[in-house]
Amino acid sequence: MKRTKIKEILRSENEKKQVMVKGWIRTKRESKDFSFLEVNDGSCLKNIQIVADTTLSNYSEIEKITTGSAVSVSGKLVESIGGGQKWEIKAETIEIISLAPETFPLQKKRHTDEYLRTIAHLRPRTNKYSAVFRIRSELSYAVHKFFRDQDFQYVHTPILTSSDCEGAGELFRVTTLDFNNLPKLDKKIDFRKDFFGKEANLTVSGQLSAEMFALALGDVYTFGPTFRAENSNTARHVAEFWMIEPEMAFCDLNQNMALAETLLQYLVNHVLDNCDEDLTLFANFVDKQLRSTLMSIVSSGFIKLPYTDAIEQLMKAKKSFEFPVEFGKDLQSEHERYLTEEVFKKPVIIYNYPKNIKPFYMRLNDDNKTVAAMDVLVPRIGEIVGGSQREERLDVLEKRMEENNLTKEEYWWYLDSRRFGSVPHSGFGLGFERLIMLMTGITNIRDVIPFPRTPKNIEF
Ligand code: 4AD
Ligand code: MG
Repeated sequence: MKRTKIKEILRSENEKKQVMVKGWIRTKRESKDFSFLEVNDGSCLKNIQIVADTTLSNYSEIEKITTGSAVSVSGKLVESIGGGQKWEIKAETIEIISLAPETFPLQKKRHTDEYLRTIAHLRPRTNKYSAVFRIRSELSYAVHKFFRDQDFQYVHTPILTSSDCEGAGELFRVTTLDFNNLPKLDKKIDFRKDFFGKEANLTVSGQLSAEMFALALGDVYTFGPTFRAENSNTARHVAEFWMIEPEMAFCDLNQNMALAETLLQYLVNHVLDNCDEDLTLFANFVDKQLRSTLMSIVSSGFIKLPYTDAIEQLMKAKKSFEFPVEFGKDLQSEHERYLTEEVFKKPVIIYNYPKNIKPFYMRLNDDNKTVAAMDVLVPRIGEIVGGSQREERLDVLEKRMEENNLTKEEYWWYLDSRRFGSVPHSGFGLGFERLIMLMTGITNIRDVIPFPRTPKNIEF
Protein backbone atom coordinates (compact mmCIF):
# COMPACT_ATOMS: atom_id res chain seq x y z
CA MET A 1 0.00 0.00 0.00
CA LYS A 2 1.24 3.47 -0.91
CA ARG A 3 1.82 5.89 1.95
CA THR A 4 -0.63 8.71 2.38
CA LYS A 5 0.82 12.13 3.15
CA ILE A 6 -0.53 13.86 6.25
CA LYS A 7 -1.41 16.88 4.14
CA GLU A 8 -3.68 14.67 2.06
CA ILE A 9 -5.22 13.03 5.13
CA LEU A 10 -6.17 16.40 6.59
CA ARG A 11 -8.05 17.17 3.38
CA SER A 12 -9.88 13.84 3.53
CA GLU A 13 -13.65 13.76 4.10
CA ASN A 14 -13.78 10.04 4.46
CA GLU A 15 -14.05 8.54 7.95
CA LYS A 16 -12.84 4.93 8.36
CA LYS A 17 -10.57 5.40 5.36
CA GLN A 18 -7.67 2.96 5.47
CA VAL A 19 -4.30 4.77 5.35
CA MET A 20 -0.61 4.12 5.78
CA VAL A 21 1.43 6.98 7.18
CA LYS A 22 5.22 7.10 7.35
CA GLY A 23 7.09 9.75 9.28
CA TRP A 24 9.02 10.73 12.38
CA ILE A 25 7.88 10.78 15.99
CA ARG A 26 7.60 14.27 17.47
CA THR A 27 6.21 13.26 20.89
CA LYS A 28 4.67 10.36 22.70
CA ARG A 29 2.31 10.30 25.64
CA GLU A 30 0.88 7.36 27.53
CA SER A 31 -2.39 6.65 29.29
CA LYS A 32 -3.55 3.43 30.94
CA ASP A 33 -4.81 1.72 27.82
CA PHE A 34 -3.16 3.69 25.02
CA SER A 35 -0.05 5.36 23.72
CA PHE A 36 -0.52 8.51 21.68
CA LEU A 37 2.13 9.19 19.06
CA GLU A 38 2.46 12.51 17.27
CA VAL A 39 3.86 11.78 13.81
CA ASN A 40 5.07 14.36 11.29
CA ASP A 41 6.05 13.60 7.71
CA GLY A 42 7.05 17.08 6.55
CA SER A 43 4.21 17.38 4.04
CA CYS A 44 2.58 20.06 6.19
CA LEU A 45 2.98 21.71 9.55
CA LYS A 46 0.48 19.53 11.38
CA ASN A 47 1.22 16.20 12.96
CA ILE A 48 -1.20 13.32 12.90
CA GLN A 49 -2.05 11.66 16.18
CA ILE A 50 -1.72 7.90 16.25
CA VAL A 51 -3.65 5.98 18.87
CA ALA A 52 -1.90 2.75 19.75
CA ASP A 53 -3.75 0.46 22.11
CA THR A 54 -2.21 -2.16 24.35
CA THR A 55 -3.56 -5.00 22.24
CA LEU A 56 -1.09 -4.30 19.42
CA SER A 57 1.22 -7.28 19.18
CA ASN A 58 4.42 -5.23 19.49
CA TYR A 59 3.03 -2.87 22.17
CA SER A 60 6.04 -3.38 24.43
CA GLU A 61 8.26 -2.05 21.64
CA ILE A 62 5.88 0.81 20.87
CA GLU A 63 6.15 1.91 24.49
CA LYS A 64 9.89 2.38 23.93
CA ILE A 65 9.53 4.60 20.83
CA THR A 66 11.54 7.81 21.20
CA THR A 67 11.34 11.30 19.70
CA GLY A 68 12.99 11.34 16.28
CA SER A 69 12.30 7.67 15.51
CA ALA A 70 10.88 6.71 12.13
CA VAL A 71 7.67 4.69 11.93
CA SER A 72 5.21 3.28 9.46
CA VAL A 73 1.62 3.17 10.69
CA SER A 74 -1.41 1.51 9.14
CA GLY A 75 -4.91 2.07 10.37
CA LYS A 76 -8.22 3.82 9.89
CA LEU A 77 -9.07 7.48 10.16
CA VAL A 78 -11.29 8.26 13.11
CA GLU A 79 -12.65 11.60 14.14
CA SER A 80 -10.42 13.28 16.67
CA ILE A 81 -12.09 14.49 19.84
CA GLY A 82 -10.51 17.71 21.07
CA GLY A 83 -7.01 18.71 20.12
CA GLY A 84 -8.23 20.87 17.22
CA GLN A 85 -7.53 18.10 14.71
CA LYS A 86 -10.01 16.63 12.30
CA TRP A 87 -8.63 13.10 12.15
CA GLU A 88 -6.49 10.74 14.11
CA ILE A 89 -5.43 7.24 13.16
CA LYS A 90 -6.43 4.20 15.13
CA ALA A 91 -3.37 2.06 14.52
CA GLU A 92 -3.70 -1.51 13.31
CA THR A 93 0.02 -2.00 12.86
CA ILE A 94 3.00 0.16 13.84
CA GLU A 95 6.31 -0.78 12.33
CA ILE A 96 9.35 0.86 13.87
CA ILE A 97 11.55 1.64 10.88
CA SER A 98 14.37 2.95 13.05
CA LEU A 99 14.69 3.91 16.68
CA ALA A 100 16.46 7.21 17.44
CA PRO A 101 18.62 7.14 20.56
CA GLU A 102 18.00 9.64 23.37
CA THR A 103 20.89 11.73 22.01
CA PHE A 104 18.59 13.00 19.21
CA PRO A 105 19.12 16.76 19.63
CA LEU A 106 15.59 17.92 18.80
CA GLN A 107 13.82 16.92 21.98
CA LYS A 108 10.57 18.72 22.71
CA LYS A 109 11.79 22.15 23.77
CA ARG A 110 12.54 25.46 22.10
CA HIS A 111 15.94 25.79 20.49
CA THR A 112 17.63 29.02 19.44
CA ASP A 113 18.22 29.73 15.76
CA GLU A 114 21.95 29.96 16.53
CA TYR A 115 21.95 26.44 17.95
CA LEU A 116 19.86 25.08 15.08
CA ARG A 117 22.38 26.50 12.60
CA THR A 118 24.95 24.16 14.14
CA ILE A 119 22.65 21.24 13.27
CA ALA A 120 21.51 22.50 9.87
CA HIS A 121 21.22 18.89 8.74
CA LEU A 122 18.48 18.24 11.31
CA ARG A 123 16.72 21.60 11.56
CA PRO A 124 14.25 20.86 8.72
CA ARG A 125 12.69 18.41 11.18
CA THR A 126 11.45 21.31 13.32
CA ASN A 127 8.15 23.11 12.70
CA LYS A 128 9.75 26.45 11.93
CA TYR A 129 12.35 25.21 9.47
CA SER A 130 10.09 22.77 7.68
CA ALA A 131 7.74 25.74 7.18
CA VAL A 132 10.59 27.90 5.80
CA PHE A 133 11.55 25.26 3.28
CA ARG A 134 8.00 24.50 2.20
CA ILE A 135 7.53 28.22 1.52
CA ARG A 136 10.84 28.25 -0.35
CA SER A 137 9.62 25.38 -2.52
CA GLU A 138 6.23 26.97 -3.16
CA LEU A 139 7.91 30.26 -4.11
CA SER A 140 10.19 28.53 -6.63
CA TYR A 141 7.13 27.09 -8.30
CA ALA A 142 5.41 30.50 -8.29
CA VAL A 143 8.43 32.12 -9.96
CA HIS A 144 8.29 29.70 -12.88
CA LYS A 145 4.51 29.99 -13.09
CA PHE A 146 4.63 33.78 -13.19
CA PHE A 147 7.10 33.86 -16.06
CA ARG A 148 5.46 31.08 -17.99
CA ASP A 149 2.10 32.83 -17.77
CA GLN A 150 3.76 35.91 -19.24
CA ASP A 151 5.47 33.94 -22.05
CA PHE A 152 9.03 34.34 -20.80
CA GLN A 153 11.55 31.64 -21.74
CA TYR A 154 13.66 30.03 -19.01
CA VAL A 155 17.40 30.11 -19.83
CA HIS A 156 20.09 28.13 -18.02
CA THR A 157 23.04 30.47 -17.82
CA PRO A 158 26.51 29.10 -16.95
CA ILE A 159 27.79 28.79 -13.41
CA LEU A 160 31.42 28.66 -14.53
CA THR A 161 32.46 31.89 -16.25
CA SER A 162 35.46 34.00 -17.12
CA SER A 163 33.69 37.33 -16.64
CA ASP A 164 32.82 39.50 -13.64
CA CYS A 165 29.36 40.88 -14.39
CA GLU A 166 29.18 43.24 -11.42
CA GLY A 167 32.83 44.29 -11.69
CA ALA A 168 33.24 44.15 -7.94
CA GLY A 169 36.00 41.54 -8.00
CA GLU A 170 34.17 39.37 -5.47
CA LEU A 171 34.95 36.20 -7.35
CA PHE A 172 35.44 32.62 -6.26
CA ARG A 173 38.26 31.33 -8.41
CA VAL A 174 37.86 27.99 -10.14
CA THR A 175 41.07 26.16 -10.97
CA THR A 176 42.60 22.71 -11.31
CA LEU A 177 46.18 24.00 -10.97
CA ASP A 178 48.40 22.35 -8.36
CA PHE A 179 48.98 25.01 -5.71
CA ASN A 180 52.28 23.44 -4.73
CA ASN A 181 53.57 23.54 -8.24
CA LEU A 182 52.09 26.51 -10.07
CA PRO A 183 53.09 26.95 -13.71
CA LYS A 184 54.78 30.34 -14.16
CA LEU A 185 55.34 32.68 -17.07
CA ASP A 186 57.37 35.84 -16.39
CA LYS A 187 56.95 35.30 -12.62
CA LYS A 188 53.14 35.30 -13.02
CA ILE A 189 50.87 32.27 -12.89
CA ASP A 190 50.44 30.81 -16.36
CA PHE A 191 46.69 30.31 -16.61
CA ARG A 192 47.09 28.92 -20.11
CA LYS A 193 47.96 25.69 -18.26
CA ASP A 194 44.76 25.82 -16.19
CA PHE A 195 41.68 23.74 -17.05
CA PHE A 196 40.01 26.37 -19.23
CA GLY A 197 43.26 27.89 -20.49
CA LYS A 198 42.42 31.16 -18.75
CA GLU A 199 41.25 32.46 -15.38
CA ALA A 200 37.83 31.17 -14.39
CA ASN A 201 35.40 31.79 -11.56
CA LEU A 202 31.91 31.03 -10.28
CA THR A 203 29.30 33.38 -11.67
CA VAL A 204 28.11 36.40 -9.65
CA SER A 205 25.10 36.87 -11.94
CA GLY A 206 23.62 35.27 -15.05
CA GLN A 207 22.81 38.66 -16.53
CA LEU A 208 25.39 38.98 -19.31
CA SER A 209 24.39 35.60 -20.74
CA ALA A 210 20.69 36.34 -20.21
CA GLU A 211 21.08 39.55 -22.23
CA MET A 212 22.30 37.53 -25.23
CA PHE A 213 19.16 35.40 -25.02
CA ALA A 214 16.80 38.35 -24.53
CA LEU A 215 18.21 39.73 -27.77
CA ALA A 216 17.13 36.52 -29.47
CA LEU A 217 14.10 35.13 -27.62
CA GLY A 218 12.64 38.44 -26.44
CA ASP A 219 11.66 37.93 -22.80
CA VAL A 220 13.77 35.49 -20.78
CA TYR A 221 14.71 34.76 -17.19
CA THR A 222 17.26 32.76 -15.29
CA PHE A 223 16.77 31.34 -11.82
CA GLY A 224 19.81 29.73 -10.32
CA PRO A 225 22.65 29.88 -7.82
CA THR A 226 25.17 32.72 -7.84
CA PHE A 227 28.32 33.18 -5.79
CA ARG A 228 30.02 36.16 -4.21
CA ALA A 229 33.19 36.26 -2.16
CA GLU A 230 31.99 39.35 -0.29
CA ASN A 231 33.63 39.42 3.07
CA SER A 232 30.60 41.02 4.68
CA ASN A 233 29.36 39.04 7.63
CA THR A 234 25.89 40.58 7.70
CA ALA A 235 22.46 39.05 8.26
CA ARG A 236 21.65 39.77 4.58
CA HIS A 237 24.64 38.31 2.75
CA VAL A 238 25.61 34.75 1.95
CA ALA A 239 28.37 33.58 -0.37
CA GLU A 240 26.04 31.28 -2.32
CA PHE A 241 22.55 32.56 -3.05
CA TRP A 242 19.84 32.13 -5.64
CA MET A 243 18.80 34.88 -7.96
CA ILE A 244 15.84 35.38 -10.29
CA GLU A 245 16.96 37.43 -13.28
CA PRO A 246 14.48 38.45 -15.97
CA GLU A 247 15.81 40.21 -19.05
CA MET A 248 13.53 41.87 -21.58
CA ALA A 249 14.19 43.12 -25.09
CA PHE A 250 12.48 46.35 -26.23
CA CYS A 251 12.06 47.38 -22.63
CA ASP A 252 12.97 50.61 -20.83
CA LEU A 253 13.54 51.40 -17.17
CA ASN A 254 9.88 52.19 -16.48
CA GLN A 255 8.67 48.86 -17.86
CA ASN A 256 11.46 47.18 -15.91
CA MET A 257 10.31 48.77 -12.65
CA ALA A 258 6.74 47.78 -13.46
CA LEU A 259 7.73 44.14 -13.93
CA ALA A 260 9.63 44.07 -10.62
CA GLU A 261 6.57 45.45 -8.86
CA THR A 262 4.17 43.01 -10.55
CA LEU A 263 6.46 40.06 -9.82
CA LEU A 264 6.86 40.90 -6.12
CA GLN A 265 3.13 41.44 -5.69
CA TYR A 266 2.36 38.20 -7.49
CA LEU A 267 4.76 36.21 -5.30
CA VAL A 268 3.40 37.70 -2.07
CA ASN A 269 -0.17 36.95 -3.18
CA HIS A 270 0.82 33.43 -4.12
CA VAL A 271 2.22 32.77 -0.66
CA LEU A 272 -0.80 34.39 1.02
CA ASP A 273 -3.10 32.14 -1.02
CA ASN A 274 -1.15 28.89 -0.80
CA CYS A 275 0.90 28.85 2.40
CA ASP A 276 -1.58 30.03 5.00
CA GLU A 277 -0.76 27.44 7.65
CA ASP A 278 3.01 27.99 7.47
CA LEU A 279 2.58 31.75 7.24
CA THR A 280 0.49 31.74 10.40
CA LEU A 281 3.38 30.16 12.28
CA PHE A 282 5.65 33.04 11.25
CA ALA A 283 3.01 35.67 11.95
CA ASN A 284 2.48 34.24 15.45
CA PHE A 285 5.99 33.35 16.53
CA VAL A 286 8.53 35.20 14.37
CA ASP A 287 7.18 38.58 13.31
CA LYS A 288 3.88 39.93 14.60
CA GLN A 289 3.87 42.53 11.83
CA LEU A 290 4.37 39.99 9.06
CA ARG A 291 0.88 40.17 7.59
CA SER A 292 0.78 43.95 7.63
CA THR A 293 4.21 44.09 5.92
CA LEU A 294 2.97 41.70 3.24
CA MET A 295 -0.23 43.71 2.84
CA SER A 296 1.83 46.89 2.39
CA ILE A 297 3.35 45.22 -0.66
CA VAL A 298 0.20 43.99 -2.38
CA SER A 299 -2.33 46.65 -1.40
CA SER A 300 -1.03 49.54 -3.51
CA GLY A 301 1.67 50.62 -5.95
CA PHE A 302 5.30 51.07 -4.94
CA ILE A 303 6.82 54.52 -4.43
CA LYS A 304 9.22 55.56 -7.19
CA LEU A 305 11.90 57.99 -6.18
CA PRO A 306 14.96 59.27 -8.07
CA TYR A 307 18.22 58.70 -6.17
CA THR A 308 18.73 62.48 -5.81
CA ASP A 309 15.35 62.83 -4.06
CA ALA A 310 16.14 59.88 -1.82
CA ILE A 311 19.38 61.58 -0.76
CA GLU A 312 17.40 64.74 -0.01
CA GLN A 313 14.90 62.79 2.12
CA LEU A 314 17.74 61.17 4.04
CA MET A 315 19.59 64.47 4.55
CA LYS A 316 16.59 66.06 6.18
CA ALA A 317 15.85 62.99 8.34
CA LYS A 318 15.74 63.70 12.05
CA LYS A 319 17.80 60.65 12.69
CA SER A 320 21.49 59.99 13.02
CA PHE A 321 22.84 57.34 10.69
CA GLU A 322 25.99 55.34 11.21
CA PHE A 323 27.02 55.90 7.57
CA PRO A 324 27.04 59.43 6.11
CA VAL A 325 24.53 60.41 3.42
CA GLU A 326 26.00 62.20 0.44
CA PHE A 327 25.32 62.41 -3.31
CA GLY A 328 27.60 59.92 -5.01
CA LYS A 329 27.63 57.43 -2.12
CA ASP A 330 25.74 54.16 -2.13
CA LEU A 331 22.79 53.77 0.21
CA GLN A 332 23.39 51.57 3.23
CA SER A 333 20.81 49.19 4.60
CA GLU A 334 20.01 51.62 7.48
CA HIS A 335 19.13 54.29 4.89
CA GLU A 336 17.07 51.88 2.83
CA ARG A 337 15.14 50.68 5.85
CA TYR A 338 14.52 54.23 7.04
CA LEU A 339 12.90 55.09 3.68
CA THR A 340 10.69 52.00 3.50
CA GLU A 341 9.85 51.58 7.18
CA GLU A 342 9.65 55.13 8.49
CA VAL A 343 9.03 57.49 5.59
CA PHE A 344 6.87 55.54 3.12
CA LYS A 345 5.90 52.38 5.04
CA LYS A 346 5.88 50.33 1.84
CA PRO A 347 8.27 49.30 -0.95
CA VAL A 348 10.26 52.07 -2.60
CA ILE A 349 12.00 51.91 -5.97
CA ILE A 350 15.02 54.20 -6.15
CA TYR A 351 16.22 54.92 -9.67
CA ASN A 352 18.83 56.93 -11.59
CA TYR A 353 21.84 56.27 -9.39
CA PRO A 354 25.22 58.00 -9.90
CA LYS A 355 27.21 56.10 -12.52
CA ASN A 356 30.33 55.77 -10.38
CA ILE A 357 28.63 53.45 -7.86
CA LYS A 358 27.04 51.17 -10.47
CA PRO A 359 28.41 48.57 -12.94
CA PHE A 360 29.53 49.27 -16.50
CA TYR A 361 26.51 47.81 -18.31
CA MET A 362 23.92 50.27 -17.00
CA ARG A 363 22.57 52.80 -19.50
CA LEU A 364 24.06 56.29 -19.17
CA ASN A 365 21.44 59.02 -18.72
CA ASP A 366 21.56 62.29 -20.66
CA ASP A 367 22.97 64.14 -17.62
CA ASN A 368 26.16 62.04 -18.06
CA LYS A 369 26.25 61.63 -14.28
CA THR A 370 23.58 59.04 -13.56
CA VAL A 371 22.62 55.68 -15.02
CA ALA A 372 19.18 54.10 -15.59
CA ALA A 373 19.53 51.86 -12.53
CA MET A 374 16.79 50.84 -10.14
CA ASP A 375 16.79 49.14 -6.75
CA VAL A 376 13.62 47.92 -5.06
CA LEU A 377 13.75 48.41 -1.29
CA VAL A 378 11.32 46.69 1.05
CA PRO A 379 10.57 47.04 4.76
CA ARG A 380 12.77 44.92 7.11
CA ILE A 381 15.23 43.95 4.38
CA GLY A 382 16.26 47.01 2.38
CA GLU A 383 17.45 46.14 -1.14
CA ILE A 384 15.71 43.08 -2.54
CA VAL A 385 16.00 43.83 -6.27
CA GLY A 386 18.79 45.45 -8.27
CA GLY A 387 18.44 46.13 -11.97
CA SER A 388 18.72 48.59 -14.83
CA GLN A 389 18.13 49.45 -18.42
CA ARG A 390 21.25 48.22 -20.24
CA GLU A 391 23.58 50.38 -22.33
CA GLU A 392 22.63 49.42 -25.88
CA ARG A 393 24.84 52.02 -27.66
CA LEU A 394 28.13 50.42 -28.68
CA ASP A 395 30.28 53.55 -28.45
CA VAL A 396 28.95 54.55 -25.02
CA LEU A 397 29.33 51.01 -23.72
CA GLU A 398 32.94 50.81 -24.93
CA LYS A 399 33.72 54.05 -23.19
CA ARG A 400 32.13 52.85 -19.94
CA MET A 401 34.16 49.64 -20.14
CA GLU A 402 37.35 51.62 -20.52
CA GLU A 403 36.47 53.70 -17.47
CA ASN A 404 35.93 50.47 -15.55
CA ASN A 405 39.19 48.88 -16.75
CA LEU A 406 37.47 46.11 -18.67
CA THR A 407 39.13 44.90 -21.84
CA LYS A 408 37.13 44.88 -25.05
CA GLU A 409 38.88 41.67 -26.09
CA GLU A 410 37.51 39.76 -23.09
CA TYR A 411 33.96 40.96 -23.70
CA TRP A 412 34.00 40.76 -27.52
CA TRP A 413 30.89 38.59 -27.55
CA TYR A 414 29.00 40.98 -25.27
CA LEU A 415 29.92 43.90 -27.53
CA ASP A 416 28.80 41.92 -30.57
CA SER A 417 25.23 42.08 -29.26
CA ARG A 418 25.46 45.87 -29.57
CA ARG A 419 26.90 45.56 -33.04
CA PHE A 420 24.27 43.31 -34.55
CA GLY A 421 20.69 44.41 -34.02
CA SER A 422 21.12 46.13 -30.67
CA VAL A 423 17.87 47.22 -29.01
CA PRO A 424 16.91 48.92 -25.74
CA HIS A 425 16.62 46.20 -23.11
CA SER A 426 16.36 45.91 -19.36
CA GLY A 427 16.36 43.45 -16.52
CA PHE A 428 16.91 42.94 -12.83
CA GLY A 429 17.97 40.46 -10.19
CA LEU A 430 15.68 39.47 -7.32
CA GLY A 431 17.54 37.86 -4.42
CA PHE A 432 15.63 34.68 -3.62
CA GLU A 433 16.80 34.37 0.00
CA ARG A 434 15.91 37.99 0.72
CA LEU A 435 12.49 37.28 -0.75
CA ILE A 436 12.02 34.38 1.68
CA MET A 437 13.14 36.61 4.56
CA LEU A 438 10.45 39.08 3.51
CA MET A 439 7.79 36.35 3.35
CA THR A 440 8.61 34.81 6.71
CA GLY A 441 9.87 37.70 8.83
CA ILE A 442 13.08 35.77 9.45
CA THR A 443 15.86 38.28 10.05
CA ASN A 444 18.96 36.18 9.37
CA ILE A 445 19.56 35.03 5.80
CA ARG A 446 21.36 31.94 7.14
CA ASP A 447 17.98 30.63 8.25
CA VAL A 448 16.22 30.65 4.86
CA ILE A 449 18.72 28.60 2.81
CA PRO A 450 19.22 24.88 3.51
CA PHE A 451 22.98 24.98 4.07
CA PRO A 452 24.27 28.56 4.27
CA ARG A 453 27.75 29.41 3.03
CA THR A 454 29.33 32.39 4.78
CA PRO A 455 32.91 33.47 5.53
CA LYS A 456 34.64 30.67 7.49
CA ASN A 457 31.63 28.40 7.24
CA ILE A 458 31.13 25.60 4.74
CA GLU A 459 29.99 22.85 7.11
CA PHE A 460 27.45 20.39 5.76
O1 4AD B 1 22.11 44.18 -7.14
P1 4AD B 1 22.79 42.93 -7.63
O2 4AD B 1 24.26 42.83 -7.38
O3 4AD B 1 22.45 42.87 -9.18
C1 4AD B 1 22.99 42.01 -10.10
O4 4AD B 1 23.69 41.07 -9.87
C2 4AD B 1 22.47 42.24 -11.49
N1 4AD B 1 23.43 41.66 -12.44
C3 4AD B 1 21.11 41.61 -11.64
C4 4AD B 1 20.50 41.85 -12.98
O5 4AD B 1 20.27 42.98 -13.35
N2 4AD B 1 20.22 40.80 -13.72
O6 4AD B 1 22.09 41.67 -7.00
C5 4AD B 1 20.70 41.46 -7.18
C6 4AD B 1 20.04 41.02 -5.89
C7 4AD B 1 20.18 42.01 -4.73
O7 4AD B 1 19.20 43.03 -4.82
C8 4AD B 1 19.96 41.11 -3.54
O8 4AD B 1 18.58 40.86 -3.33
C9 4AD B 1 20.62 39.83 -3.98
O9 4AD B 1 20.67 39.84 -5.39
N3 4AD B 1 21.98 39.69 -3.44
C10 4AD B 1 22.32 38.88 -2.42
N4 4AD B 1 21.59 38.05 -1.67
C11 4AD B 1 22.23 37.36 -0.71
N5 4AD B 1 23.55 37.43 -0.47
C12 4AD B 1 24.34 38.24 -1.21
N6 4AD B 1 25.66 38.28 -0.99
C13 4AD B 1 23.73 39.02 -2.24
N7 4AD B 1 24.18 39.92 -3.14
C14 4AD B 1 23.11 40.30 -3.87
MG1 MG C 1 22.56 45.79 -5.91
